[in-house]
Amino acid sequence: MKILVTGGTGYIGSHTVLSLQEAGHDVVVIDNLVNSSEESLRRVAELSGKTAEFHQVNLVDEAAIDKVFAGAAIEAVIHFAGLKAVGESVRKPLKYYYNNLVGTLNLIRVMDRHDVRSIVFSSSATVYGEHNPIPYVEKMEIGANNPYGRTKEQIEDILSDLGAADPRWHIALLRYFNPVGAHPSGRIGEDPQGIPNNLVPFIAQVAVGRREKLMVFGGDYDTPDGTCLRDYIHVMDLAEGHAAALHYLQGHDGVHRWNLGSGHGTSVLQMHAAFEKAVGSPIPYEIAPRRAGDLPAFWADPSAALADLGWSTTRTVEAMCEDHWRWQKNNPLGYAHSPEAGEEPQARPSMSPHLAPYRIDVTAGDPPSLEHALNRAVEAAIAQALMEGTRGVLVTRRSPRTYTVELSRSVPFGTTLERDESVQGR
Ligand SMILES: NC(=O)c1ccc[n+]([C@@H]2O[C@H](COP(=O)([O-])OP(=O)(O)OC[C@H]3O[C@@H](n4cnc5c(N)ncnc54)[C@H](O)[C@@H]3O)[C@@H](O)[C@H]2O)c1
Repeated sequence: MKILVTGGTGYIGSHTVLSLQEAGHDVVVIDNLVNSSEESLRRVAELSGKTAEFHQVNLVDEAAIDKVFAGAAIEAVIHFAGLKAVGESVRKPLKYYYNNLVGTLNLIRVMDRHDVRSIVFSSSATVYGEHNPIPYVEKMEIGANNPYGRTKEQIEDILSDLGAADPRWHIALLRYFNPVGAHPSGRIGEDPQGIPNNLVPFIAQVAVGRREKLMVFGGDYDTPDGTCLRDYIHVMDLAEGHAAALHYLQGHDGVHRWNLGSGHGTSVLQMHAAFEKAVGSPIPYEIAPRRAGDLPAFWADPSAALADLGWSTTRTVEAMCEDHWRWQKNNPLGYAHSPEAGEEPQARPSMSPHLAPYRIDVTAGDPPSLEHALNRAVEAAIAQALMEGTRGVLVTRRSPRTYTVELSRSVPFGTTLERDESVQGR
């Protein structure tokens, strides 16, 4: 089949593209790279031996989506593209409603015009809200409690109305639980921008030295060890769930909802211990006060996916941690400093407490990739400066597309972050 994957350069998207290519499908990817790098697709191609056709398109631009569909003979769509940070969505609800809802409306309008009516949508366990009993079952009333979750719920409503109105549509709403891990090659993985919102990427960044310690929010919940329980799912299991859903849709019209989770809760401290085991050394953590809005525990009832799709998770928490760690260890700064991406680090950040030389030259293509690369380099340098004491971070513009990020003795930390405004403003 020829499958369009929106958000295909992102975390779950890139693993799914690989899984689809390995299953023999042709893949076309749309992404505006707002939270990802095209480097992920280059590495997917290296692993699968197949190149996905890539279009840097923003889904809020309907005409641009139309151009991708014109003459492309796309048969089905997997729709990952969207903004996903709960906290940011509370601060900037309009940004989330506009991006996620308008993007999806444009996509399905274009699909309809081009007679492509099979879609698998990335929904989330967050739609179950605060009041449902555990485990979550698909037939429960949904009701998200934050703007991000409401975009998922509203898109589910839009797609459900569409499926009810027009029997030519084949729609799968996949409610993901907590995806973690990476492809076992260590070549692709999750590459969060800024401070990670999720537990495992945070632990991984502590383990690799980019952050000082893990803050565990709440140690006094009514759970076996006092910390929150979540249903973690290996990203490769999740990727395979999409292929199973697509396969099902070929023989079934209408709207279908499935939980994609393991059916088990794992606590924050259990996950931390599993990650320590994968790393082979202690990872510092501290118990902090509870965070507003966190539920003590939830997990999926995944039995519908097993019954309908023949799909269930096969990878353990240990495998999630080992694979996640392999990716993080091999790519301490994510995709940003890959020579293939045109960003050549002259010196790797040093983990030594001694004053090691530290300098990264950032040269990249068009914005936003330059801005992303520069942000990563600055973030890594600040982490390094914090680790090493009092030195500052100096950013020097060498040419419109080349910057040097280095630690400096001559400038006090906290006052030395020089950024060229023209980069930020573009
Ligand atoms: N990772 C999770 O914990 C999780 C859990 C439940 C649901 N989901 C959902 O799964 C999907 C994929 O998540 P992910 O973790 O891979 O996130 P991600 O940020 O890595 O991937 C999303 C991709 O969408 C792209 N994108 C965003 N807005 C776009 C737009 N307007 N036009 C084109 N591209 C756009 C981003 O650049 C990014 O590459 C998202 O819809 C997310 O809400 C994720």
